[in-house]
Amino acid sequence: MTAEKGGFDHFMLKEIHEQPKAYRDTMRGRLSDDGRSVALSELNITPEQLRGINRVHIVACGTAMHAGLVGKTVIEQLARIPVETDVASEYRYRSPIITPDTLVIVVSQSGETADTLAALREAKRCGARVLAITNVVGSSVAREADDVIITLAGPEIAVASTKAYTSQLIAFYLFGLHLAQTRGTQDEAFVANVLAAMQALPEQVEKILAQAETIKGIAESISHHRSLFFIGRGIDYAVALEGSLKLKEISYIHSEAYAAGELKHGTLALIEEGVPVIALLTQEELYEKTISNIKETKARGAHVFGIYNEGHEAEVAKSVDRQFAIPRTLPLLTPALSVIPLQLLSYYASLALGHDVDKPRNLAKSVTVE
Ligand code: G6P
Repeated sequence: MTAEKGGFDHFMLKEIHEQPKAYRDTMRGRLSDDGRSVALSELNITPEQLRGINRVHIVACGTAMHAGLVGKTVIEQLARIPVETDVASEYRYRSPIITPDTLVIVVSQSGETADTLAALREAKRCGARVLAITNVVGSSVAREADDVIITLAGPEIAVASTKAYTSQLIAFYLFGLHLAQTRGTQDEAFVANVLAAMQALPEQVEKILAQAETIKGIAESISHHRSLFFIGRGIDYAVALEGSLKLKEISYIHSEAYAAGELKHGTLALIEEGVPVIALLTQEELYEKTISNIKETKARGAHVFGIYNEGHEAEVAKSVDRQFAIPRTLPLLTPALSVIPLQLLSYYASLALGHDVDKPRNLAKSVTVE
């Protein structure tokens, strides 16, 4: 069994460490020879059809839905198309406005989640074109979609998804750039610049993984708390939601993710002496705003752990209690780095509490019933 786990104690830890490879594998063969443009040759959708899309719906469950929340920002910013992200179990029942010019993107690690598959079928019935982002070739979702981008994360065994999530992010970056190139919303130099930054991500993830011990110490200190909060703005909020889910899934500690600016509209009432707050601060243009939200929690006694871009050490130190820097990348790409310390945090918190990390209570890897 240890051999299957590649020398790691748990599949989750092994899969967290496989992310640099998963990023490289998911990018491999999908860039032009000079690496300056995207070449998604597996897609059947024509450039003309891509130019005709007027709205995008991203539909998924759990962690895959959280990748879809990042995907929304990626597609809107790169290709300037309005995007909605929805949980699959809600999508079908809210009479979504689906037209032949709607592209529905379903995201599913397994490709077998019942609600996601049902949403795909509903989208097709309404005449939309469906693109699947999935990790399993030949899965139901892959077979029934019009187009498929396979994430090359390799098999994911731990119930808590890690490398599948980050590979889904890579797929969204590639597809967002592909749309941007085709629709002419970004110029060649911009696309080349994003791709260069993407190619640096695997090494940057390795740098973060090398500091796992730092995160372990923080995880041990939060593991005794009954409740904690994740905050962030913009794309950091999407990552906060994933960090909170991961922690709940395997450590059973109650947590909530909040858009930092929304705290004062309710959640601030729950902040009292010693409550841990995990703050994401990777978006430079929202940096000052997030710092002032952190101060609001500190004033009520919160113990704040900040995750920020390297270079801001001195300023961040003034506002938080513990800190962790991620290597510098483009603002849109930060989720592919900032989620790594959060995955490690939940892993080590679960471990400290003596839970079954790979097989949490009440949860299944793939939910094939509604
Ligand atoms: C289950 C798993 C989650 C996963 C979700 C969606 O709830 O425990 O980790 O995110 O299903 O799974 P999918 O295979 O569709 O990505």
